[in-house]
Amino acid sequence: MSRAHPIEPYRIKTVEAIPVTTRAQRAEALVRAGYNTCLLRADEVTIDLFTDSGTNAMSDRQWSAMMLGDESYCGSSSFYRFEAAVQQYYGYPHVIPTHQGRAAENILAQCLIKPGHHVPGNMYFPSTRVHLERNGGIFHDVIIDEAHDPNSEHPFKGDVDLDKLRAMIEQVGPENIPLFWIHATVNMAGGQPISLANLAKVREVADQHGIPIILDAARAVENAWFIKQREPGQSDRSVADILHDLCALTDGATMSAKKDSFANIGGWLAVRDDALAEAARGLVVVYEGMHTYGGMAGRDMEAITQGIVESVQEHSIAARVGQVEYLGERLIEAGVPVVRPIGGHAIFLDAAAILSHVPREELPAQTLIAAIYLIAGVRGVERGAVSAGRDPSTGENRYPPLELVRLAIPRRTYTQSHMDAVADGIIDVYKERSQIAGGLTFVHEPKAMRFFQARFAPTADVLVR
Ligand code: F0G
Repeated sequence: MSRAHPIEPYRIKTVEAIPVTTRAQRAEALVRAGYNTCLLRADEVTIDLFTDSGTNAMSDRQWSAMMLGDESYCGSSSFYRFEAAVQQYYGYPHVIPTHQGRAAENILAQCLIKPGHHVPGNMYFPSTRVHLERNGGIFHDVIIDEAHDPNSEHPFKGDVDLDKLRAMIEQVGPENIPLFWIHATVNMAGGQPISLANLAKVREVADQHGIPIILDAARAVENAWFIKQREPGQSDRSVADILHDLCALTDGATMSAKKDSFANIGGWLAVRDDALAEAARGLVVVYEGMHTYGGMAGRDMEAITQGIVESVQEHSIAARVGQVEYLGERLIEAGVPVVRPIGGHAIFLDAAAILSHVPREELPAQTLIAAIYLIAGVRGVERGAVSAGRDPSTGENRYPPLELVRLAIPRRTYTQSHMDAVADGIIDVYKERSQIAGGLTFVHEPKAMRFFQARFAPTADVLVR
């Protein structure tokens, strides 16, 4: 092993036991779950890398702040503290609370997207695309080509290809584009950042046509960290300042506070435009609750407020990204194909390369993640054809260029020895990959976001020989 990851900048005050299982128990659990790791019970999983969303360890200060939660239905003082923190760190004037990120997306999409609209973005995310499609919009991926190449070492694989963006505007007409929806970082590309320089150019194009830019800010702090590390002229600046600059280039943001802000639940929509804020507040009371709690308890807003402050602390973000990188480097050293460079929140295994003997129709990423659970007791999630779903107009399966398994690392939750256990387990699966007998096929396929509740069966007699 070449090196340690940065020191965890905290010590442990409370512990939570994790389940230890046998391979026979995991084999049984996998059959019951229809070979879908989303349907496993948490007590069947030893190291849970399904997501970094809502699974982060909260700090003593966050837990203390929760006791200050003001649960008033109207005008909760927790809301005003929360609003002030979002305004201060993200810089948007209007802050509309929601119960999580997709609720903010729902409200934004209902306000802005009409049938026949087109929305460009730096790769899709399932929840953002589902909301734009449910409102009759069509998504256009305008990310740079390097983002679709797991081996490209481009430092900003989240950048927008400006030629693709301009061509798309030309093709559909700017009047049919209600917003650009830009992710920082880009989850589906492997947690890859967008550069400030690229976003500034996207801003110019947006201004030429009077189109607003909305930022998906779920992991914008991690994006700011990468800008500090990689973008010329940014290394001496604080992550907080860079985060501010990212937001300053945009007209609003949808936010899942379950990521960067270390909260178990919560989100927000923030905008600069008064009329859009008014329309969004009108919908928040329909779908979420009063515009001063938006589906959150007062204590949730307190946890987010404190979490925002902690999220931009340099040693905190350095340790977070460093831990992910450590796991990635161990896998790279062992020759396991992963998306490079290592992203901010997760390791993405290149399932198409690892299981090159399993055809795309037999869902190599879903197969690999089932095998990893069986052999190593680690839970990840499919990020390939199953997540991509079907094209709503043709009904055909979408086969995205990237067929990945994601191992997302919750913030402050696991230690270096957990990362070593994960690395050892994945390396074992990689060495044994020829023993994976075949792929998986759908036996139950839900319509929307099918990856959550789909069920599968192996195409061979057994999953692993
Ligand atoms: N945007 C991005 C980039 C996300 O990663 C997520 C959630 C959302 C929006 C939606 O937020 O879950 O609070 O409704 N991603 C989680 C994940 C589920 O595992 O990547 P939410």
